[in-house]
Amino acid sequence: MNELEMRQPLRAVIVGAGNRSVTYASYALSHPDRLQIVAVVDPDEHRRARLSELHRVPPERCFVDLDDLLAAGDIAEVAINGTMDEFHVQTSIPLLAAGYDVLLEKPIGISKEEVMELLSAARAHSRKVMICHVLRYAPFYAEIRKRIAEGEVGDILNIQTGEHVSYHHMSAAFVRGKWSNKEACGSSMLMAKCCHDMDLITWLKSGVPPVRVTSSGGIGFFRSDKAPIGSGTRCVTDCRIEADCVYSAKKHYVEQNMWGVYVWRSIEHLGPSLTVEQKLESLRTDNPYGRCVWKCDNDAVDHQSVVIEFADGSTATHNLIGNTARPCRTIHIIGTKGEISGVMEDGFFTVRRPDPRPGHEYSEEQVQLNVSMDMHGGGDLRLIEDFISYHRGEAPSLSTTSLEDSIHGHLVGFGADLAMEQGRWIAIESLLA
Ligand SMILES: NC(=O)c1ccc[n+]([C@@H]2O[C@H](COP(=O)([O-])OP(=O)(O)OC[C@H]3O[C@@H](n4cnc5c(N)ncnc54)[C@H](O)[C@@H]3O)[C@@H](O)[C@H]2O)c1
Repeated sequence: MNELEMRQPLRAVIVGAGNRSVTYASYALSHPDRLQIVAVVDPDEHRRARLSELHRVPPERCFVDLDDLLAAGDIAEVAINGTMDEFHVQTSIPLLAAGYDVLLEKPIGISKEEVMELLSAARAHSRKVMICHVLRYAPFYAEIRKRIAEGEVGDILNIQTGEHVSYHHMSAAFVRGKWSNKEACGSSMLMAKCCHDMDLITWLKSGVPPVRVTSSGGIGFFRSDKAPIGSGTRCVTDCRIEADCVYSAKKHYVEQNMWGVYVWRSIEHLGPSLTVEQKLESLRTDNPYGRCVWKCDNDAVDHQSVVIEFADGSTATHNLIGNTARPCRTIHIIGTKGEISGVMEDGFFTVRRPDPRPGHEYSEEQVQLNVSMDMHGGGDLRLIEDFISYHRGEAPSLSTTSLEDSIHGHLVGFGADLAMEQGRWIAIESLLA
């Protein structure tokens, strides 16, 4: 890439103009000298119009179908693929073949076979694919990774992570919502929610491949036999306990205005400022988010534990728990020289080292971080910056790694789900040369 090209904004096409793509594309509005959104593909007319208006994409560059974009020739250097899980691989492969580098949402694909197919396509066309593992870019995890790379806690012996999905997030996304049923969305709960955590674990162990995984879990609470007496089928139609229920759709989505981007998808064409009556009418009738949490078609687990073993004998565990009061991600890493522990949402982590001096036991350093709770702890837009550098062949941060490295966590996740189903250990193949 010559100097003139480096000074031009990178031209990007948006494939799937949904919630995630709109967030990533917002970088182009604040940094027009670095990124420009020049085309959009989305079968949904409203979504196309929204993105084209935000980024002044002319009508001739707004496409209903990916094939129409590809037929239009040289439009952009990169694609931002924010389609839903089951479309990731089938839409990315033609983009790679057409010469685009791709920023792809997680999960990479919905099966191990699909993910490997994408890797082959990226290799065959010599294109770069960067996965939106946004937590790698959040200051909390980026700083932990840096300290591990600098050897502060020595060699990692064990990593323990936890993801606590709150009662309102769990019920919105994984009981009533679009990731509640694997057949409908393509992803299990672990892959939809914790492919980030599987990725963080394998990324923290970069260079040492995982060799086997096992897992156990299930649906303990969000099922019909747990429905309390008096519950109905919809919170605002036939429920006699709505006023006392902590999962009330009316409380979460109308009174507290939570999860609006998901909940009002079916009526977003009515405009950006929906009235309370429009919302209640939607919850009363055909909106899936109006359903009783004990009467849905969900098969997403509400608890799952995963155990991973690495090639150097070190181990990791991850606990996914849905329905917690407080949403948070926890981490505890124990190395040969010390340990690191913290809760991302607290905005700091602690480094401890043995200290055998009289009167001491260990030293403790608290590392404060500038953590914003929006956009994945600030990770979303840092990821875009790194994607631009990665595409241009500049040195990206420690957070960006090869596609192979990003796939290891997915292999662990697919293996964990199979292990849970079959009650055994599953071997993981290494992609490292
Ligand atoms: N990185 C993260 O932390 C994070 C967080 C949430 C969601 N996600 C992932 O991001 C992805 C998108 O989620 P979302 O909530 O933005 O979804 P969304 O439903 O809001 O957007 C998807 C868009 O893709 C469009 N689409 C469907 N088929 C298409 C096709 N063939 N070509 C082009 N566009 C097509 C849809 O019309 C829709 O507008 C999902 O895979 C999800 O798992 C990632």
